Amino acid sequence: MKIEFVASAGAAEVLAVLVHEGRVLSGRGPEVDTATSGALTKAMTASRFTGGTNNTLAVTAPAGVDAGTILLSGAGEAGKFDDLALEAAAGAAYHAVKLSGATALTIDAYSLTAGQAARAAFAARLAAYRFHKYRTTLKPEKTPSIETIRVVAADPRAAKVAWDTLSPVADAVEFSRDLVSEPANVLYPVEFAKRVKALEKLGLEVEILGEKELEKLGFNTLLAVGMGSRRESQVVVMKWNGGKKGDQPIAFVGKGVTFDTGGISIKPADGMEDMKWDMGGSAAVVGLMHALAGRKAKVNVVGVLGLVENMPDGAAQRPGDVVMSLSGQSVEVINTDAEGRLVLADCLWYTQERFKPKFMLDLATLTGAMIVALGLEYAGVFSNSDELANNFLAAGPKVGENAWRMPIPAAYERHIDSPIADVKNTGNGRAGGSITAALFLQRFTNGTPWAHIDIAPTAWVKDSKNPTVPDGAVGWGVRTLDRMVADNYES
Ligand code: BES
Ligand code: MN
Ligand code: ZN
Repeated sequence: MKIEFVASAGAAEVLAVLVHEGRVLSGRGPEVDTATSGALTKAMTASRFTGGTNNTLAVTAPAGVDAGTILLSGAGEAGKFDDLALEAAAGAAYHAVKLSGATALTIDAYSLTAGQAARAAFAARLAAYRFHKYRTTLKPEKTPSIETIRVVAADPRAAKVAWDTLSPVADAVEFSRDLVSEPANVLYPVEFAKRVKALEKLGLEVEILGEKELEKLGFNTLLAVGMGSRRESQVVVMKWNGGKKGDQPIAFVGKGVTFDTGGISIKPADGMEDMKWDMGGSAAVVGLMHALAGRKAKVNVVGVLGLVENMPDGAAQRPGDVVMSLSGQSVEVINTDAEGRLVLADCLWYTQERFKPKFMLDLATLTGAMIVALGLEYAGVFSNSDELANNFLAAGPKVGENAWRMPIPAAYERHIDSPIADVKNTGNGRAGGSITAALFLQRFTNGTPWAHIDIAPTAWVKDSKNPTVPDGAVGWGVRTLDRMVADNYES
């Protein structure tokens, strides 16, 4: 997608004008209305369009202006107009015309700030994300025609400067969505690691640990998950050193199960294809690192990815197995489908021991129970640090990603005590399944400030109502993490 910032619309194929609730035209809208003898006002009053978000109204080829279509896009109540309302309006405008045949969408941001003009372009770009690389045919009428987003800004040069800090985030979200979208026959641990290694071009350091090294280091619970797979497990360590030399880093850890069959505790067939996105946590961490490197963030950050495939075969681990984790705690594996926590246990322990970070934050599509608890529009936040949890929770709403704090009560610890080992990998039947998973992880944090984000509800969307998040891979967490780091941890 080509992004341009211009001082005037010129002859636009489609000119999108933001309209606030009550049919209030913004930016160049009133001028256009006058030039067209009130065609915009007439069109609005002849319809139910009042400027509500996610509503658009196309006014085709009105006499008096040089535009194919004036697209009115709802921006909601003027008093509540914020970045998210702006994103929704720009995203909805894109969707309204993406298949129209027009090759450029011009968005009128003339009365907005340079930052807002850039954000309009950002939203349109996120809205335009598609994962179509495996289609060999796509009917012309289903092929998007928009190739350029052109934003009219009062100060195009300032808008371009603002865009230069936003476009790396869009790149990162797209990269993350691509990883999550890839099928598991293509994206297995070695291939995932290879794609991350290629990000060294952005200035990231990337280190790949294969099974031999992991065995030597003692990543036994992680390796146990991958035993049933023909694909080699990998741990990837990413580093972004944008802060002062020697400054204690912050650390992010991602669950990267490239496919989760459940293992010997095999899952039912229905919906199992969803488990290709069981690496969404790792994809979020990669996206964050991509964004930080792209905008040269002034902070030292470590990203650790636990990449495995959970398959059943003759070499697979069994329910009842006892495995010695990297931390030295023995783990009884009751259910091989509770594999994410086994992967993260070793990764968390390794991260705190090697990097002594200020905090560790992990993201994981960890439990179906999280979906039962919160529904599909909130991720769960578990933390031993109010400060860390609050920094995460404050960032999400600014970028349209919702999360909710969950408890990790000591009273439930007994549910993961094992009769024959130090800990077991499932809790009290289905009761509090997300909480006992978090309690399990906490035992591998060694008291480091830590937060665990269960993104099982949000990593993938099937009926998106958010124009900037098309159906499929969300890239959930990239924007929140980037914002959280920017707002709290950069010098
Ligand atoms: N990857 C799944 C969790 C999941 C479910 C993510 C649905 C996204 C959508 C995880 O590995 C898993 O299988 N968890 C089990 C845990 C149980 C065996 C204790 C679950 O949620 O059923
Ligand atoms: Mn599982
Ligand atoms: Zn899983």
